[in-house]
Amino acid sequence: MAEFLSSTDKRTKYCGLYTSADIGTDVCVMGWCQRQRDLGSLIFIDLRDRTGIVQLAFDENTPKEVYNTAFKVRSEFVLCAKGTVRARGEGAVNPNLPTGEVEIAVKELKVLSAAQTPPFAIVKKSDVKPELRLKHRYLDLRRPDMQQNIIARSKITKITRDYFEEQGFIEIETPNLVKPTPEGARDYLVPSRVHPGSFYALPQSPQLYKQLLMLSGFDRYIQIARCYRDEDLRADRQPEFTQIDEELSFVTQDDVIAINEGFLKRVFKDFLGKDIETPLPRMTYAEAMERFGSDKPDLRFGYELKNISDIVKDCGFKVFTGAVEAGGSVRAIKIEGGSKFSRKEIDSLGEFVKTYRAKGLAWYKLAEDGTFSSSYAKFLTEDENKAILDFMGVQNGDLLLIVGDAKNEVVFDSLGALRREVAFRMDVIEPGDYKMLWITEFPLLEYSEEDGRYYAKHHPFTMPMEEDIQHLDSDPGRVRAIAYDIVINGMEAGGGSVRINIPEVQQKMFSVLGMEKEEYEEKFGFLLEAYRYGAPPHAGLAFGLDRLVSLLLGIDDIRDVIAFPKVQNASELMTGAPAPADNKALNELSIAVTKEEE
Ligand code: AMO
Repeated sequence: MAEFLSSTDKRTKYCGLYTSADIGTDVCVMGWCQRQRDLGSLIFIDLRDRTGIVQLAFDENTPKEVYNTAFKVRSEFVLCAKGTVRARGEGAVNPNLPTGEVEIAVKELKVLSAAQTPPFAIVKKSDVKPELRLKHRYLDLRRPDMQQNIIARSKITKITRDYFEEQGFIEIETPNLVKPTPEGARDYLVPSRVHPGSFYALPQSPQLYKQLLMLSGFDRYIQIARCYRDEDLRADRQPEFTQIDEELSFVTQDDVIAINEGFLKRVFKDFLGKDIETPLPRMTYAEAMERFGSDKPDLRFGYELKNISDIVKDCGFKVFTGAVEAGGSVRAIKIEGGSKFSRKEIDSLGEFVKTYRAKGLAWYKLAEDGTFSSSYAKFLTEDENKAILDFMGVQNGDLLLIVGDAKNEVVFDSLGALRREVAFRMDVIEPGDYKMLWITEFPLLEYSEEDGRYYAKHHPFTMPMEEDIQHLDSDPGRVRAIAYDIVINGMEAGGGSVRINIPEVQQKMFSVLGMEKEEYEEKFGFLLEAYRYGAPPHAGLAFGLDRLVSLLLGIDDIRDVIAFPKVQNASELMTGAPAPADNKALNELSIAVTKEEE
């Protein structure tokens, strides 16, 4: 029963834009049927497009065949209706709808496409299972909140381009088929047909190209760049995602920070109408770890970590003393008003920290009436207990949570995550609150016990801090980098660094990363050569666009701001990607599959 559009079927304007100013005009509207109501002598159809809904009315004055067509319309039918805008009848005005004062008395109606009953209703709030939504993403994207997210993303991208263009940045595209390079995550590889056995990688970021563009003299580069990383997915990670990627020449860390504070100010103002005070606070990596157990501290709440190792190092509780003796530490956070947590809830916090490799959670609860309960107090003397409570400033109604471990990393990770978890459970986060800061002076390298070698914490092209370069050979672990992250509400929204523009330092860096000359010449010879032809000092940064959009919209899962995201196991539920390749294609690529998916 589908009909074609004719050349005279021209939409007057979007459904959501009709107001009483349009009364009396003849119009043509197109969209989807949100719902059809048959009241016997009257039929109403709510017609929807990306701007909203307008009511189509059919009554005794409607031509018979039009009325009959309207009678057959079901939800999600695609319609073209022509008619006259009129005021709604007495009592029929809908103050909740922007178009609620008017309706269109339809004279012509075309069904452009019929629709089966969709697997879920196309409505704003949806408690439909994520898997079903993603399988029918094209329907999910019809829902008004998803439409708003995707449209918001487009607006934010536009604000971004405008801002950086005004600042003299040039948008340059870099390749998507690149040389595989170790930049942290695993690469997605693309086999070359012309060079059997050779592979391109999809870029994890445009890092090397943007650096080389600085050598070419472009000075200020920007790209809204697609990046690909084969890593474990989480709510804030997708295998393909988008960066606002920047690089600048003749600048220091402060210049990059200033430009990007300007950007944040602009995007928060233009998109949210919020004023951001700059300069934003800065905190060194070391301080962030010490106080918050994390290099992306959420500053919307307190619960700072305190080191109680000195107080407990000689106490009678093996868990505490053992941790300190083994070179680790014992640290605590105080939750004001946390005594309201039941024993069961505290146990579940104990389970929570175990997922961060902590062996357990010690706690002390001081009820409002001054009575206490504790998992560890019985192992300590009265003085030792008092010393902890005094040091932590525990008051009636508070809860103390303590983790000790032989590895500081475990203490930081578990308490860092726990303070956030507790903040959510305590419901202390103000909706619409944004707390931003820069984290600076990251360690240049990270040691992997498992592999017995250092890895670059940011990437291998990051400049060490000048005063630390001297330790690169003797004590690489203590060298700090000129690297910085922008953290918003506990999320790493972006990160960058000053780059190594001195070939000798770059070579040294490769050596520290365990590469022989032959290996780095083979992998990065082109880069080392390029830097010998005159390389300006340069630095840059990349925001995660998906993360930034979700932060601005107050959404936790970045999938909700990506039109066609992937699920945890990196597949796309709608198309079923990835899929096996046929033998002909594999033969052409000289590829044999040795392990089929179970
Ligand atoms: P980095 O690896 O820190 O730096 O990435 C920059 C920002 O990109 C976002 N991001 C992601 N977003 C969604 N899914 C992912 N899997 C994902 N991975 C990263 C984060 C992160 O802060 N080339 C350097 C930047 C530079 O030095 O200029 C880089 O890629 O928000």
